[in-house]
Amino acid sequence: MFRTPGPVLVLVVAIAAIPAPRAQSQQSTPQEKAATRNIDASKGYGTHFQTSDQCFACHNGITTPTGEDISIGINWRTSMMANAGRDPYWMAGVRRETVDHPTASRLIQDECSICHMPMMRYEARLAGGAGEAFAHLPPDPARLGDRLADDGVSCSVCHQITEQNLGKRESFVGGFKIDEKTAPGERRIYGPFETDKGHTTIMKSSSTFQPVEGKQVRSSELCATCHTLLTQALDEQGRVIGELPEQVPRW
Ligand code: HEC
Ligand code: HEC
Ligand code: HEC
Ligand code: HEC
Repeated sequence: MFRTPGPVLVLVVAIAAIPAPRAQSQQSTPQEKAATRNIDASKGYGTHFQTSDQCFACHNGITTPTGEDISIGINWRTSMMANAGRDPYWMAGVRRETVDHPTASRLIQDECSICHMPMMRYEARLAGGAGEAFAHLPPDPARLGDRLADDGVSCSVCHQITEQNLGKRESFVGGFKIDEKTAPGERRIYGPFETDKGHTTIMKSSSTFQPVEGKQVRSSELCATCHTLLTQALDEQGRVIGELPEQVPRW
């Protein structure tokens, strides 16, 4: 499918700015909403990532001498990836799959949230649960799981991906690995450059993350982890019967 940049930008801005009433298919049922409460309360849940508002404070408002805003914050906020968990087209796609395969609803929501709601899904998995899409819709700002889901492919996703399995088959379909062991306060954010001690302290004291150089940030394998989608085909009972490469870009 070919898209021109114009309409895509308009669509993204519209998604970001208008709190449009959501179609029934994009709302959670009371059962779906109740389902994640236990996972949210697990020890350590939500300590591996931070939402983008925690990064904006410093990495925003950067302008050129002529006043042009070149901030990462603005570029990211209006991107498809920032809105990956808010995208009504995606939500409708997930709902459609669960209607076609009701017995596989849990599996489908887990699968579809790997790349579209990566922070929520990664935390849910670490806490022994699974990714859930509709339980987080519409997002309730008071719930951490909803905030993580709503923040899409956020800063602390890409910037925490380690080189551990990049380029390998297991890194595809969102199989990237972050450091799962280091405690909050000692966690790292990988960037393309080395950061001096003073700046490292500034960022660490406020965001709790310390920026360190990580060459993997600039590698195409980092993007390929989510941009290589091999889809599992399900039969009428919701059993996996095969795998097909749905989206495999060539670099
Ligand atoms: C491996 C990561 C990954 C998984 C898993 C995944 N997606 Fe996506 N999805 C993407 C990427 C990347 C794009 C953007 C593709 C592009 O335009 O190049 C996308 C785009 C989409 C779009 C188009 C959105 C738009 O506004 O144009 C829909 C719909 C969608 N995905 C639905 C789903 C559904 C339904 C599932 C679960 C069955 C799913 N996705 C699972 C990565 C993923
Ligand atoms: C889809 C993955 C992805 C997301 C999401 C993302 N980044 Fe990045 N970021 C990168 C990559 C890749 C680079 C390296 C670009 C280069 O060197 O050409 C980078 C570079 C940077 C740099 C260094 C830029 C420089 O030139 O000094 C900073 C700071 C940064 N990102 C902060 C952020 C913040 C803050 C957010 C969220 C608002 C964010 N990033 C979201 C992938 C991402
Ligand atoms: C208190 C301010 C502050 C906060 C909050 C903050 N940063 Fe930083 N960050 C800095 C400073 C200062 C630097 C070092 C200067 C530079 O490289 O731009 C830096 C460096 C970085 C780098 C390395 C850039 C490079 O050149 O390689 C990345 C990536 C980054 N930050 C991402 C983030 C992310 C993601 C968040 C949110 C979780 C965040 N920052 C929150 C101030 C902050
Ligand atoms: C954590 C998973 C993840 C990673 C890592 C990731 N992406 Fe994405 N990307 C997505 C998803 C999901 C979408 C689709 C969002 C939607 O349309 O709902 C997307 C969409 C995009 C789009 C918009 C596609 C379109 O058709 O308009 C571009 C461009 C893009 N990504 C580039 C990159 C680049 C470059 C990198 C590496 C620096 C990267 N992505 C890393 C998940 C990811």
